[in-house]
Amino acid sequence: MTIANLIEVAKEARLRAYAPYSRFQVGAALLAADGRIFSGSNVENISFGLTCCAERVAIFSAIAAGVSVFKEIVIVSDSREPVSPCGACRQVMAEFAPSLEVTSVNLIGEAFTANLAN
Ligand code: THU
Repeated sequence: MTIANLIEVAKEARLRAYAPYSRFQVGAALLAADGRIFSGSNVENISFGLTCCAERVAIFSAIAAGVSVFKEIVIVSDSREPVSPCGACRQVMAEFAPSLEVTSVNLIGEAFTANLAN
């Protein structure tokens, strides 16, 4: 599984975002240790605190499918700088994968990679 594949999956997921309030669509692709990929998009709510970021949707869907060992997550957004996961998402990532590799890219191909542990 290459990073390019994961970016493609995250881009497709981004198009399924439900973001009528912020109009900011985010997609995520989570690579599990067994090679499976779980995607996520942000799902907003009129009560904004109930919004779930793309990253958490991907992680929760993996957990619900019985998969909990993860290698990396790729996030795609249409922003000037690639987005950094919020505190809630970092906390959820840390629960399952304290040293998860996180790559964030924007639609013009700028990217950064960081390790959750750093
Ligand atoms: N969002 C994500 O899904 N992931 C991030 O890493 C940053 C923020 C979403 C949450 C909300 O729906 C919208 O982007 C604006 O914050």
